[in-house]
Amino acid sequence: SGKTEALGAIVARHRHREGPLLPILHDVQAQYGCVDAESEALIAKGLNWSRADVHGVVSFYHDFRAEADPRPVVQICRAEACKARGVEALIAMAEQAAGEGVKIETVYCLGLCSAGPAARTGDDLHVRLDARGVAQLVQDA
Ligand code: FES
Repeated sequence: SGKTEALGAIVARHRHREGPLLPILHDVQAQYGCVDAESEALIAKGLNWSRADVHGVVSFYHDFRAEADPRPVVQICRAEACKARGVEALIAMAEQAAGEGVKIETVYCLGLCSAGPAARTGDDLHVRLDARGVAQLVQDA
């Protein structure tokens, strides 16, 4: 399948490194949003490790998830220019508005520095956020 090939490519990219597993897991998580049982099996096979060993590492680190997070994501920029424009004061509000239903993610620069605070939801970019704007974003996510 496409996934077998994609996973194979990721494993091949890292397998000669000293500690190949973590970089592989990070790439898989970045690409698929999770490291599921199928991925664990493919990684184990590619590295010639046991599945139990791969699974042990996946479950040890909280960065890795067994299933993709189903929540919508609001990415908020917290890099310098947006900080200078007051984004930090909006983060707590965003978190509160988000509750359990929306995921607030920190990103570092969306290339909209002169119009910050900036955020992204899906393919949409949002600029000049204020308290109301950020609450609205979370609500619409
Ligand atoms: Fe926030 Fe560049 S610093 S968009």
